[in-house]
Amino acid sequence: MKRCLSGIKPTGNLTLGNYIGALREFKKYQDEYETFIFIADLHALTLPIDPAFLRSNTKDIVAFYIAAGLDPQKSTIFLQSDVSAHSEINTILENYLYMGELSRMTQFKDKSSKMKHEAVGLGIFTYPVLMAGDILLYNADVVPVGDDQRQHVELTRDLVHRFNARYNKEVFVMPQAISPKVGARIMSLSEPTKKMSKSDPKGDIFLKDEPNIIRKKIMSAVTDTGNEIKYDPVNKPGISNLLTIYAALSNKTIEEAEKEFEGMSQYGTFKKIVADKVLEELIPFKQRYEEVLKSGIIDQVLTEGAKRASYIANKTLRKVKKTVGLYVHD
Ligand code: AMP
Ligand code: TRP
Repeated sequence: MKRCLSGIKPTGNLTLGNYIGALREFKKYQDEYETFIFIADLHALTLPIDPAFLRSNTKDIVAFYIAAGLDPQKSTIFLQSDVSAHSEINTILENYLYMGELSRMTQFKDKSSKMKHEAVGLGIFTYPVLMAGDILLYNADVVPVGDDQRQHVELTRDLVHRFNARYNKEVFVMPQAISPKVGARIMSLSEPTKKMSKSDPKGDIFLKDEPNIIRKKIMSAVTDTGNEIKYDPVNKPGISNLLTIYAALSNKTIEEAEKEFEGMSQYGTFKKIVADKVLEELIPFKQRYEEVLKSGIIDQVLTEGAKRASYIANKTLRKVKKTVGLYVHD
């Protein structure tokens, strides 16, 4: 059976971008693929974070995974930090990626450009190495992610070529990033030329927001001065983003969504329909999330997940150690 793997880092409250670009996609794979979905808590340490906040975000994400339809019986749900093989393979893989390629990563450039050079942590620089290890430990064939993470998966592919060629055998499986056709990059509601991101709360819809707040945020989303509801990300980024959100949640193409609003000349009416669609999806989702939290199953899911994940990850780690010449013994 082919494998699917993905993760989300618990650095803040999840957004509608996380939901449409990643979270909502995961359950689609669990019947067809052996699926591993984890919480990238080691990645969350790459920028300073309050320990209590990190812990509660971690628990939230497990509940969100289950609320989004991941079945812990079918999918292995686990914490990255529970499987020590992630840290171990990281130490090995560091030696197969180059400073040049890591410094060209968009996420690194974005994050580090906002800091003083002296204060840029090593972790934010080597972030893609840890991520490559996540993918390779499970020999994942497909990696469902939003647009912004595709570059890291591409780098993982380069690493696979390099590593397999160096040792002249298929040690690692070649992974492929897959993103939703509609909604791989949801934009901020207040600055629609920027990505909606959980570290930038302006213009975000948080999955935990109250319905009246969500409605308010959508109704006051930035748009242009025209009145046509058309997909044109360059000239009408705000309207295009709302159309994308609507299309994604309705499982329609952009063209189909555009057709529905043909002739409508009131942005207000359009926004109300978009808000209704978002709430139709998020209200029951949040209810399921609350039920999962109340049910008290989280620790059990994680314990079971860590066991299953460790078994697979340790097997790969052992193979990698042998390949590079480390003395593996019983
Ligand atoms: P992160 O918040 O960086 O841990 O992202 C978790 C997942 O959500 C990754 O697959 C991202 O690519 C995806 N994601 C994050 N923000 C967005 C967005 N604005 N639109 C679509 N997908 C996103
Ligand atoms: N870097 C991803 C993000 O910020 C999270 C992540 C860590 C991940 N390791 C991964 C996603 C492996 C897919 C596969 O969203």
